[in-house]
Amino acid sequence: MAKTKSKTAFVCNECGSEYSKWQGQCSDCGAWNSVVEFRLGNPARGGAAAPSKSGYSGALAEARVLKDIDLDELPRFSSGISELDRVLGGGLVPGSAILVGGNPGAGKSTLLLQTLCHLAQQVPALYITGEESPQQVAMRAQRLALPTDRLQLMSETSVEAIQAAAEQIKPKILVVDSIQVVHSDELTSAPGSVSQVRECAAWLTRYAKQTGTVLFLVGHVTKDGSLAGPKVLEHMIDCSILLEDTADSRFRMLRGQKNRFGAVNELGVFAMTGEGLKEVKNPSAIFLNRATEPASGSAVVAVWEGTRPLLVEIQALVDDSQIANPRRVAVGLEQNRLNMLLAVLHRHGGLQLGDQDVFANVVGGVRVLETSADLALLCALVSSFRDRVLPRELVIFGEVGLAGEIRPVPSGQERLAEAAKHGFTQAIVPRANLPKQPIPGMDVKGVNKLGEALAALEG
Ligand code: TYD
Ligand code: MG
Repeated sequence: MAKTKSKTAFVCNECGSEYSKWQGQCSDCGAWNSVVEFRLGNPARGGAAAPSKSGYSGALAEARVLKDIDLDELPRFSSGISELDRVLGGGLVPGSAILVGGNPGAGKSTLLLQTLCHLAQQVPALYITGEESPQQVAMRAQRLALPTDRLQLMSETSVEAIQAAAEQIKPKILVVDSIQVVHSDELTSAPGSVSQVRECAAWLTRYAKQTGTVLFLVGHVTKDGSLAGPKVLEHMIDCSILLEDTADSRFRMLRGQKNRFGAVNELGVFAMTGEGLKEVKNPSAIFLNRATEPASGSAVVAVWEGTRPLLVEIQALVDDSQIANPRRVAVGLEQNRLNMLLAVLHRHGGLQLGDQDVFANVVGGVRVLETSADLALLCALVSSFRDRVLPRELVIFGEVGLAGEIRPVPSGQERLAEAAKHGFTQAIVPRANLPKQPIPGMDVKGVNKLGEALAALEG
């Protein structure tokens, strides 16, 4: 039973793990002296962390049969940036909390400023800047030629002051940049600590839910790529999106990580230009910006990103090794997958690469986590090893199993259609992915076994 009395817990400042009593080292993440006392629930402000009987004042007061719930109660509206809408599952949902993560300099503030300046033309919007001065933000907006006549801007880090401003302005969109600098005067711990982040984010998301405001929380990412205090935030927010830099510094990927209103693993692509972030509507075209001189070790794969196909080039370099333990380096691909494919290639393809250094890379800084890239990577390895150039118009996809079998992947037809759209005329795909209707101008070979795929490469 929830008690109305405020309780305490012990929370690790590094990873957010909870303990019933204090301990010197966090058993979860191993950090020393990171466990601090944390007050759960705060009856005075409505018990942010633990919804107690007295504190809970949410809108869902009565239960209803599922079928009676009006779906129009979830009206989405566009953010004005279609790549952002898509990653969010089709637009902004009133009352939702969205966490925007990314490295410093990834462009989070730029993206949100662009979005808000445009949205402010239609609905009240409030931008809380805790890191930059109002002048810096205004200068950027001016330089990017954004409409600045409607957006309310406030430089503030106290959650109580944000609350007061929000209650006065009643924004439909609220951006807090960033959650790590926001603090509550009622807590003694330092801004950015888990208890501060948790308490402030809980208050802000509660405010968003109650007022139907769209809340964007900006969160910086730590060195290992996770958001600081991720565990404490992940259950409160509805969507988590990550703005990633790529190896090619011009491009930024916006990736959905959690979404209560749509599919995850959606990918939005932006280019950072002198005029801010620009949407890239046809990402295949930029990642396929290939060298004019065809080279061995290069293969093009059609991967599936969220709800659309994306054509990317995979490069491999296989070269005599000078060291006892030859190197296996995978950039943008999974290292274990590369090791596995090398073993399959040895066992089922008869290719011995044990004394070779192997490097594999996805061009353009894209990260490919899909198994459909297996076959293309394998073909790139063979192409480099034999120093034979693959046809320029060839696209390859398919998963490779441990027995050397080529397994089908979802959405084969759409992948082939995307390749055809970009001028590809040949394809090697799993036999089960052979198109039901022939694709005009494209010669598609279906393969079941590694041997057949290697034979298909020969011509
Ligand atoms: P910013 O939005 O401040 O990043 P974040 O809020 O994620 O820390 O983006 C800053 C970077 O973007 C900075 O390195 C400069 C670059 N940039 C441009 O290249 N062009 C532009 O028009 C803008 C506004 C920023
Ligand atoms: Mg910023």
